[in-house]
Amino acid sequence: MLHSNLTINNAGHLMLGGVDVVELAVKYGTPLYVMDEQRIRENCRLYKKAMREHLPHGSKPLYASKALCYAGIFKVMKEEGMAVDIVSAGELYTALRAQFPAENMYFHGNSKPDSEIEYAINAGVGHFVVDSMEELEKIDMHAGRKRAIQKVLLRVTPNIDTHTHKKIATGTIDCKFGTPIETGQAEEFIKTILSKKNVRIDGLHCHVGSQIFDEQPFCQALEVMVDFIAQVYSKTGWTPEYLDMGGGFGVRYTEEDPVLDYGGWIAKIGEKLKEACAEKGIPVPALLLEPGRFIVADAGITIYSVTGVKEIPGHASYVAVDGGMTDNPRYALYEAKYTMLLANKAKKPKTYTCTVAGRCCESGDLLGENIAIQKPVKGDLLTVLTTGAYNYSMASNYNRVPRPAMVAVKDGRDFLAVRRESYEDLIALDTL
Ligand SMILES: Cc1ncc(COP(=O)(O)O)c(C=O)c1O
Repeated sequence: MLHSNLTINNAGHLMLGGVDVVELAVKYGTPLYVMDEQRIRENCRLYKKAMREHLPHGSKPLYASKALCYAGIFKVMKEEGMAVDIVSAGELYTALRAQFPAENMYFHGNSKPDSEIEYAINAGVGHFVVDSMEELEKIDMHAGRKRAIQKVLLRVTPNIDTHTHKKIATGTIDCKFGTPIETGQAEEFIKTILSKKNVRIDGLHCHVGSQIFDEQPFCQALEVMVDFIAQVYSKTGWTPEYLDMGGGFGVRYTEEDPVLDYGGWIAKIGEKLKEACAEKGIPVPALLLEPGRFIVADAGITIYSVTGVKEIPGHASYVAVDGGMTDNPRYALYEAKYTMLLANKAKKPKTYTCTVAGRCCESGDLLGENIAIQKPVKGDLLTVLTTGAYNYSMASNYNRVPRPAMVAVKDGRDFLAVRRESYEDLIALDTL
């Protein structure tokens, strides 16, 4: 199986985290997101262990909660000793409601509204990852009003091309995120921050992209960042306590994706950091890493019911399901690839090649093309693997389709993490 938390039982049913997926579909209905909580915890531990062993003292992982955000995930992150990356007041509110400490949050985003900046400062958010001069001015003003010193990191763009999909590449000079190093703007920005009374700059941040399969872009970015730190140090005497290299570690969606040695990557990044800092004669900062996808992707699956099979001889075979782009827009957005199977026929060979169609009124509402699954009929449970990241968090109510429930499994038991939206939920905000 694609991931070690997936097995098949004697009944020929798919199991996730030791729980029969077919039974979950019967109990909770479809479409249904299922998250393996133990796998989420294991992924956090793997990251923390590798960072503890290979990176400078004080280094730590922040879970990028945009990958999967619901109240329960913040409880897990708190128990696992993770800090978190948030990008909106909505994510902040969710984390606070789950009693996640504001001090351990890093507030990202290239376009933070004033009201959200105020809200985050009032809540005591540990760090802002500043992305614009306007944001800096607002933070300085509001922190001043509160007689507080707000800690920040500055997001810069190292101009690294990661060769990932262009919609998830974020490190190039012309990208909407961060301040470019090459143009001299990042250096000027740091000088401005250093002149502010109510803001303290603790570090620098960059994020070169997502779903990256080799350590090279990280090592290149690290070199650019260390060069930049040395340049700023020589001019201002300031060096960062933290260097935040963002997220981006790739995960396996299909058997064709490589198996990665994540611990080995972190070790290489650590070596590169020490080497580059020694060469430039600057103090070694602690590293922050912001895994999102890596923490939750392989912990999740989505179960759908097949609603029909349409064969157009010589053209296409469509297998239609009771969800689609509303619960997983990633194929419609960037033709993201997935592995699928019928959970109730998991032992049978995958002899049927098809296009998996969602239910929305959009021809682009597909979950995949050229997908191999077992021969389907109406009522079968088509299951998409590796949907833990950027599925629920990207879901919408297009066509007024209610968002699915999310169930978590742990120690062979299942419990509701997010209840299914009702029709009443759909009209709750409407005025009549
Ligand atoms: C600033 C930042 N950090 C971390 C992440 C998480 O990336 P990934 O889920 O690829 O690890 C993202 C993803 O967009 C991001 O923009």
